[in-house]
Amino acid sequence: MADDKTATTVRFPQRPPGAPGPFRAEVDIVDCEVEGRIPDGMNGCFYRVGPDFQFPPKFPNNIPFDGEGHVAMFRFADGHVDLRTRYVRTQRYKTQRAARKAVFGMYRNPTTDDPGLEGVSRGTANTTVIYHNKTLFALKEDSPPVAMDPLTLETLDDYVTFDGKLTSQTFTAHPKIDPVSGEMIAFGYEAKGLGTDDVAVYSIDRNGGIAWEAWIKVPYAGMLHDFAATQTHIAFLVIPMAYSEEQIRAQGPHFAWDRNLPSWFGVMRRGGDGSDLRWYRGPERCATHVMGAWSDGSMVYVDMDMAHKNQFPFFPNRYGEPFDAVGAAGVVTRLSVDLSKKMDDYDMEVLYPNTGVLPRQDDRYQTVAYRYGFMPTVDMSKPPHPSHAGRPFRPNNNYTKFDHATKTAVTYFAGDAVALQEPCFVPRHREAAEGDGYIVGMSELMLEGNRSELLIIDTADMQAGPVARVRLPFRIFGQVHGWWVDAADLPGA
Ligand SMILES: [Fe+2]
Repeated sequence: MADDKTATTVRFPQRPPGAPGPFRAEVDIVDCEVEGRIPDGMNGCFYRVGPDFQFPPKFPNNIPFDGEGHVAMFRFADGHVDLRTRYVRTQRYKTQRAARKAVFGMYRNPTTDDPGLEGVSRGTANTTVIYHNKTLFALKEDSPPVAMDPLTLETLDDYVTFDGKLTSQTFTAHPKIDPVSGEMIAFGYEAKGLGTDDVAVYSIDRNGGIAWEAWIKVPYAGMLHDFAATQTHIAFLVIPMAYSEEQIRAQGPHFAWDRNLPSWFGVMRRGGDGSDLRWYRGPERCATHVMGAWSDGSMVYVDMDMAHKNQFPFFPNRYGEPFDAVGAAGVVTRLSVDLSKKMDDYDMEVLYPNTGVLPRQDDRYQTVAYRYGFMPTVDMSKPPHPSHAGRPFRPNNNYTKFDHATKTAVTYFAGDAVALQEPCFVPRHREAAEGDGYIVGMSELMLEGNRSELLIIDTADMQAGPVARVRLPFRIFGQVHGWWVDAADLPGA
């Protein structure tokens, strides 16, 4: 490691005028400014996490999702909202803080790190926060979980192995919570190291112990960002965002999009040893997130935000094709297979024309049949907004609620110059019916210096817009995912 710690001052790469830089400040606001009225009974915590570069990246062309995980907690209590943000004290964060510079290199490419870091976890914990067994887990799919105190955001364990039983080197950022058993179902891909085709699947019981483990192989080492769990089955979609040895050698990021690869939909029995796993073939498709999934007899259904082409502009196309923004537009698509039939391909049905990313559901319905979904969507018919950082930009400026029973979608339009982040559903009360409550989501006001507001929208009247806005006096770091915890479920309640 460098001994000249003071020789280089911190200076981030130049950005276009107006483009947001890293946030870097850990803040506390007691009693945030609120416009409107926080709904009665809305008590609990909304947690969100995103990448926030701690130091200028070692490689200026690193991808934006390789910053250190920064968690924000909005704590709602009797109409008041307090904000606290803390970086996750990952092994990587602590190592870089001591060095006063970035020592880890390119996204998921350990060959680009400073020497002497073997054995230090590269995990940024920047993708998801999820609550299980009274613990807040901050997750990044290339490394084991990091545990945080859900009330203080203090990092409690920078390398969670569930009493040494987690032998996978990786752990998904998208575990599912089974509302019946209370289990957290999860997996790790590239589980035996960089580019390996091994996947480990786990169930963690409500007391935090690993209760089930199965190891399987995937057809090729492609990105497995999310997965599906039903009451009886586990499903994976392998997409042509493939591990690239070529790019690893060239000091590039982990993945490249290979249009010549098929997608594969794999289904296995939950609780088994994985030997029943079947793979169903599909065309070139990209899908990143699951809205909901369930089993019905021999049928397995998984709803995803699916596109025809690479949805990640920062991961190159392997054969040099330019990024295709139209081909990257995702639509809610239902993938299904009938396990009682001999099928070679999986079935696909586009459910709605609305394009968007980051679908969510009422999380109390994970693993079971569900009716409602939510997603930030974009109106592709509108011209791109010209004012964002001097370049045309088409933000997700709608929140859309989907009703699968009536096949209808209803939308809240936030305005031309508002960028909306992933919504999170909050039940109106603990016994509320599915989808009855609020969505909370962070907005950036592009014409007000990207100042941020947390919007609270009643799902019974989406078009009416927010019933309350938590107004922040600054632009907060961008979010990947968020999670709601009811006050009655927090420690000490
Ligand atoms: Fe995700």
